[in-house]
Amino acid sequence: MQKPNNRLEDQTCIITGSSSGIGAAIAKSYALEGGKVVINYHSDKEGAEEVAHEIMKNSNAIKPLIIQCDVSKEEDVKTLFKKTIKEFGTVDVCVANSGIQKDYPLHEMPLSAWQQVLDVNLTGQFLCAKEALNEFMRRGMRPEVSNSLGKIIHVSSVHEEIPWAGHANYATSKGGLKMLMESICQSYAGKKVRCNSIAPGAIKTDINKEVWEDEEGLKDILKLIPYDKMGEPEDIGSVASWLASDESEYVNGTTIFVDGGMSCYPGFTSNG
Ligand code: BGC
Repeated sequence: MQKPNNRLEDQTCIITGSSSGIGAAIAKSYALEGGKVVINYHSDKEGAEEVAHEIMKNSNAIKPLIIQCDVSKEEDVKTLFKKTIKEFGTVDVCVANSGIQKDYPLHEMPLSAWQQVLDVNLTGQFLCAKEALNEFMRRGMRPEVSNSLGKIIHVSSVHEEIPWAGHANYATSKGGLKMLMESICQSYAGKKVRCNSIAPGAIKTDINKEVWEDEEGLKDILKLIPYDKMGEPEDIGSVASWLASDESEYVNGTTIFVDGGMSCYPGFTSNG
C-alpha cells in the first residue's frame, strides 16, 4: 500500500486512459504524491468519476480534473491540454497510457482492426507527446517543482520486444512506441525533457480479463512469468511515480520493464 508522499507536489499530471486499469492506478499514485491529476477517459465516464472519488478519500488530495478525449483525434488532444492548462496552469507530466487490443490472426485481420490499434496506441501517444513538448517549451523551467522541463512517460508493453502471434497490430504499435520514445529523448533531452517508457507484462486489468478469469488461461499465462504471479495495476503506479519524480532524474530514453521477468524468455528455462 503506497503511503502519501510529495514527490509530485504542485505538478500537473495528465494520464490518458485513466478511468480504469493501469491508468487509474497511475492517477491514484500521482495524487498520493501531491500531484494535480487529470483523469482522461474515452467512454467510461463513471469509471473516471470513481477514480476521482477514490482520490478524494485522501483529505489532502487536490480535486482531479476529469476530461473526455479520444487520443487518436488531434483536436480532442489539443482540447485536453487546453482545458488542463486553463484549470491548472500548465502540464508537468504527461503519461500517454491509452491502449487497446483487437486480436486476429494476421491473415484474417480487418484493416479497421489494424488501423484502430495503431491510431490509439501509437498515433495517440504521438499526439499527446507533441502537445506536452509544446507546453513544456512554452512554459519554461519550473525549478521550484522539478529539475526537468517536463516528463513524458509512454506506457508500452513487453510486446515492444516480444513478438506476439495473433496480436501483430498491438505488438507493432508497441515496437513503434520504442522508437518514438527514443527519438523524443534524443531530440529534447538537451532542453531537459525526460522521456521514458514503462513496459508492463501481464497485469490484471480488463484488457486481459478473459485470460486470467479462466483457470486454464491463468495457468498458461503463469508459465510465461518467472515470478509466478500476475502483476497488479499498482505495481505500475509506483514505478510511474518514481519515474515522474526527480528521484529518477538521470533516467532518460529508456524502457523500464515491469513484468516479473516475462521478458527473460522463460520458455528457455529448462532447455534450448
Ligand atoms: C497486453 C496483455 C498481455 C501482456 C503480456 C500486455 O501488453 O495488453 O493483454 O497479457 O501484455 O502478454
